[in-house]
Amino acid sequence: MNRGIHIGMAERELETPVLVVDIDAMERNLARMMETLADSGLNLRPHLKTAKSPALAWKMIDAGAIGVCCAKLSEAEVMANAGIGDILLTSEVAGAGKFERLVALARRLPGFKAVVDSEHAIDGIAALAVQQGVTVNLLIEIDVNTGRSGVTSAADALRLANHIRDTAGVQLVGLHGYAGHAQIRPAEDREVLNPEAMEVLKEAVDVLEEHNHELTYLSGGGTGSSAIDAEAGVLNEVQAGSFLLMDTAYRDAGAPFENALSCLTTVISRPNETRAVCDAGQKTLSRDGGTPEVTGRSGVTYLRGSDEHGNLEVDPAALEAPLNVGDVVRVLPSHVCTTVNLHDVMVGVRDGIVEAIWPIEARGHVW
Ligand SMILES: Cc1ncc(COP(=O)(O)O)c(C=O)c1O
Repeated sequence: MNRGIHIGMAERELETPVLVVDIDAMERNLARMMETLADSGLNLRPHLKTAKSPALAWKMIDAGAIGVCCAKLSEAEVMANAGIGDILLTSEVAGAGKFERLVALARRLPGFKAVVDSEHAIDGIAALAVQQGVTVNLLIEIDVNTGRSGVTSAADALRLANHIRDTAGVQLVGLHGYAGHAQIRPAEDREVLNPEAMEVLKEAVDVLEEHNHELTYLSGGGTGSSAIDAEAGVLNEVQAGSFLLMDTAYRDAGAPFENALSCLTTVISRPNETRAVCDAGQKTLSRDGGTPEVTGRSGVTYLRGSDEHGNLEVDPAALEAPLNVGDVVRVLPSHVCTTVNLHDVMVGVRDGIVEAIWPIEARGHVW
């Protein structure tokens, strides 16, 4: 949809609500991540569940990322259509239709890989792969204390690895151990939880290697753990996603990246001295990560959102300038992944001028 956005226009001319990216800050975030990982033996395989945009995926690949992660097959299909070949699907899938699409992706992309944690999925994928004359690359997911999917013991990992070895149409290429519980946490928690998680992964690596399983990819980690992972030497690739655009939850947890993503919203009503209403409600800014935050305007606080309205609390004594209907306010999202998923487009801005328009092609691609 053409929203009247064009390259070269002033940021202040954008119709709201709109997601904008401070390109300088985003580029600094990317450079910082690459510096963190440099000489650590860790590759960056960014998770595109956050930016959901092939254009931003390519920016990270151009900066040295070896490929991408996707959470869903539909997200992976968008990235494949944009010419990205090295994709790791980090969520298990089940059901005949899903196995068909997964094997179709593997046929298209020799670099495609998918995680599994059940014989059911291995057998479902393998049966179709044999029919279609392709071998699908699999990583076994280990639950590294996250309490989400993944096998919960090295013995179970070995059982699945042996099963893959005995099954035509699939091959084991690595292990997946994402320490989700060790990401958006204060540094002192991360420094305890992440090493404990990597010990769980390391135990599985040791057991599988003792049984002659070759593990090319040891994949996991996120924005919160990347610096610790770079020192730890267990993983060989890190799946950070939020670092590029960031949100207030990660900022508050001390992640050393800048808030590059914000939402511009217009004050549409000023019911009284202490209240204002803007045009960014819950359909614009997600709330699962906490309350979004007004930035650059002292005395104005984002209180809560209904579907289409954002309620702002105004402290008249703290206002540096009057807040009027028609004023544009900048709000930082609390959770980047779920906020980006609400929008069709992100607008890249440098020095107040629109420099890029990035369609969020994988928004809503959750199937
Ligand atoms: C499997 C997996 N890897 C990586 C990430 C990205 O982590 P972050 O957003 O903390 O960088 C996530 C986020 O939920 C994830 O589920």
